[in-house]
Amino acid sequence: MNKPRDPAVVSPWSSVENDHRALRDALGAFATGVTVVTALDRDGRAIGLTVNSFNTVSLEPPLILWSLSRASPSLAAFRAASHFAVNVLAAGQQAVSERFARRGADRFAGIEWQSGLGGAPLLTGCCAVLECRNEVQHEGGDHLIFIGRVERFGRSEAPPLVYHGGRYRSLRD
Ligand SMILES: Cc1cc2nc3c(=O)[nH]c(=O)nc-3n(C[C@H](O)[C@H](O)[C@H](O)COP(=O)(O)O)c2cc1C
Repeated sequence: MNKPRDPAVVSPWSSVENDHRALRDALGAFATGVTVVTALDRDGRAIGLTVNSFNTVSLEPPLILWSLSRASPSLAAFRAASHFAVNVLAAGQQAVSERFARRGADRFAGIEWQSGLGGAPLLTGCCAVLECRNEVQHEGGDHLIFIGRVERFGRSEAPPLVYHGGRYRSLRD
């Protein structure tokens, strides 16, 4: 027999149809790192945005994924790019995350970066960077899921920036 649900463990069950706020809160309970995914557009301009939908898919072959809103003005450019770079932000890079999540700003102004594979910008000071061939894309509702094949990577010992419950956090042992 099923045991009764313990409200101290999980708060009352909500229906997805009529409670988007509660769904967002439940999804936000999953703590993530924060990345900036970058590429070059067709005119050779650097593009990038803050992304926490990043995750690993496979080690052999080395595949990762992230998803991009279909409403993004960068959608066509990311679809067409040969490569993109996943820059994993360090604890001191909250301002970088905020900048790359804001519309209208020149996101790369004053940011130090160098060109990676396919020209994708590699930001200075990150915990890790994954340079990926833009392998394949899948439908994902109002997002498009990008699968990348990691061709080159690097990492540092810097502690990561963490995102949880709609807020930036840092790790504590
Ligand atoms: C912590 C954090 C994580 C985010 N993750 C994603 C994501 O995975 N996919 C996405 O499309 N937008 C994500 N966003 C929102 C975009 O960064 C934001 O809408 C940005 O303006 C999109 O860039 P664009 O205007 O070039 O589309 C996230 C924002 C924050 C603050």
